[in-house]
Amino acid sequence: MRIDIVTIFPEFFSVLDVSLLGKARQNGLIDLAVHDLRDYTYDRHRTVDDTPYGGGAGMVMRPEPWGDALDSILYASEAQHAAPPVIIFPSPAGELFSQSMARELAVERQLVFGCGRYEGIDQRVVDYASTRATVRLVSLGDYVLNGGEVATMAMIEAIGRLIPGVVGNPESLVEESHSDGLLEYPSYTKPAEWRGFEVPPVLLSGNHGAIAAWRHEQQLERTRRVRPDLLAE
Ligand code: ADE
Repeated sequence: MRIDIVTIFPEFFSVLDVSLLGKARQNGLIDLAVHDLRDYTYDRHRTVDDTPYGGGAGMVMRPEPWGDALDSILYASEAQHAAPPVIIFPSPAGELFSQSMARELAVERQLVFGCGRYEGIDQRVVDYASTRATVRLVSLGDYVLNGGEVATMAMIEAIGRLIPGVVGNPESLVEESHSDGLLEYPSYTKPAEWRGFEVPPVLLSGNHGAIAAWRHEQQLERTRRVRPDLLAE
C-alpha cells in the first residue's frame, strides 16, 4: 500500500520507522511518504493559515498550499496510471473511525492523509479534492485533538496491521476486540497462580469446547458491561 501524509509537522511521523509498521516499510509492504505542507508555500514566512471569513476565533488553513500539495500527489499517482487514491481528512466533524472502516481502507492501493491544524482547512480544499478522488472526513472519536496528526497515526496503525504480511501471525487478527463486533476475552499466561490470583481453571482443562464457550461468555459479559452500545448494533 502507498500512504502519503500532508502535514506541517513531518517530524511527528518519525515513529512510523519503528515496530511492526517500520518493518512493513522495510519489507516494502507499506510505501510511506510524508510531505511538508510548507514546501507548497511561496512567501517568505511560509504561511499556511489566515483569519476566517465571517469572523470567529482561531485560524483557518488557506487552500493554495493544500491544492498544490494534493495536485503533486495526484499527479504522481496518475503518472503511474494508477486508480485515484482515497483522501482522508481527519476531523472531529467526520464520520466515526471503526474497525470495519479500517478493513475497508486496508484493501485500497493508496491512501492520502491531510492533517489539518488550527480551526480546520478551507472547505474548498475538500470540495476540490472530491472532484479528483474519493474523499472521507474521519473522526477518531467525540473529542478534539490539536490537529490531524495523532488521528492519522492511529488510523495508519489500525489499517496497516490489516495488510497481509504486516502482522506475523494472521490468526491474532481473528480473535481480537471488534473483529466480531464484541470486545475480546481476557488473556492469561504462566504462571498459573500469581500473587494469589489464579488463572480460570477452565483454561487449564484442555477441553477446547469448554474453553471456546467460556471465552465467548466472557466476551458477551464484558461487552454488556462496558459497551452495551455494541450489542445493540
Ligand atoms: N482532529 C481534531 N480532532 C480530531 C478527532 N477527534 N478525530 C480526527 N481528527 C481530529
